[in-house]
Amino acid sequence: MSQLPTYGEVHGPPIGEMTRRTFMRRLIGWGVGLLSLEFLAGTFAFTWPNVRGGLGGKVVLGSATDIVGASPDWATGQPYSYQKARIFLVNVPAGEALVDGKTDNVPDPKKNVLALYRKCPHLGCQIPQLCDKSHWFECLCHGSKYTILGEKRAGPAPRGMDRFPFTIENGIYVVDTGKLEDGPPIGTETFDKRTIDQMPHCAA
Ligand code: FES
Repeated sequence: MSQLPTYGEVHGPPIGEMTRRTFMRRLIGWGVGLLSLEFLAGTFAFTWPNVRGGLGGKVVLGSATDIVGASPDWATGQPYSYQKARIFLVNVPAGEALVDGKTDNVPDPKKNVLALYRKCPHLGCQIPQLCDKSHWFECLCHGSKYTILGEKRAGPAPRGMDRFPFTIENGIYVVDTGKLEDGPPIGTETFDKRTIDQMPHCAA
């Protein structure tokens, strides 16, 4: 004897079950949409030039006298950390003397200056001040190490520290943070030829 069909076989799933399924699908859809939006917003915020804060446009640093006024050690080789542009401004002749263990007072290096971007070219951590043990820049995230000229000496970074071009207009230093230039390739050795095991370090 044949059995009578059930309600579900004749009419499909009850209305309440359909609603839950639809609701779950929509919930997942909203979740994926929100995540995508968050990702896009983060990418946009990272890449959009922050002209008001300096990064992405031209940043006026002032004259050499202004820079020494803001950071007196710059004349004796300590890089000037200018956070508004996220750079280290390196006074090259004074920096070389510092690394060589000499003291040289160079209050105005003219064009012999480097504007190194503080963002590590490995995965983007901010590189701290020059390590006073090695006189190298040492990234604390994964241990990439760079000389005072931003040339890579150790660690996983694919190149030296990136840099921005600068001009001196009527004695005023201007850094163009809208034009990031790749750091020098691995193997570049301008003057500091020490190896990683020849001095103590700040980063492991
Ligand atoms: S982010 Fe600097 S070494 Fe990885």
